Amino acid sequence: MIVTIDGPAGAGKSSAAHRLADRLGYRFLDTGAMYRAITYAGLQHGIDLTDEKALLQVALASEIQLAGDKIVLDEVDITNAIRTFEITTLTRHAADNRAVREHLTQLQRQFAAESKQTGQGIVTEGRDQATVVFPDAECKIYLTASEQARAQRRYEDLLNRGEQVDYTGVLEKQRHRDQQDLNRKVGGLALTNESIEVSTDDMTPDQVVDALEKIVRDRQPS
Ligand code: DC
Repeated sequence: MIVTIDGPAGAGKSSAAHRLADRLGYRFLDTGAMYRAITYAGLQHGIDLTDEKALLQVALASEIQLAGDKIVLDEVDITNAIRTFEITTLTRHAADNRAVREHLTQLQRQFAAESKQTGQGIVTEGRDQATVVFPDAECKIYLTASEQARAQRRYEDLLNRGEQVDYTGVLEKQRHRDQQDLNRKVGGLALTNESIEVSTDDMTPDQVVDALEKIVRDRQPS
């Protein structure tokens, strides 16, 4: 079974999706991390991230491994390095690059196909998983929260990582990113007719995972 979890930044998708996958015994795919990894690789190669062809070349030449909790780029663990404020802001270039999107879409479908071969389901999270990458997914979830709750989470997360940020700045950047995510011509964030919307504002992380697990189990063939 393919479970897609799409939604805006800071809704708590990554940790909820990861925990959900563990509970179900499914593989977890963090597609935002793939866009971040390409951005990181672009910076390492010193290219201009707005140069679409150069960024595609970097994407094609990069080997991204998603090993459990870890993101490994060309055998270097970049799990923490891709979560900085800088990478978060610059990742829009990879996300807006249609050829990079096509390449990552192929890799994401390949991940699902390999999982199917070994009899495992996947939980995949991002922006376009239900709309573009897996339109036939059996279970589509749209995870969201108010912009204040999302910005607060992101702010605390960045502080915990030792970054110097202020809440207002995080909120403003998030508004900007929301607009970019919603208005992106290909792969933009959108709710499908089949998506089940879950708003996490008044829920603890455990309650979110419980709610998601129930949604999936209700759809699993008996
Ligand atoms: O979920 P995240 O914050 O790690 O995503 C990083 C960026 O990548 C964000 O700007 C949106 C973009 N993204 C995307 O365009 N499509 C996806 N499937 C996942 C993320």
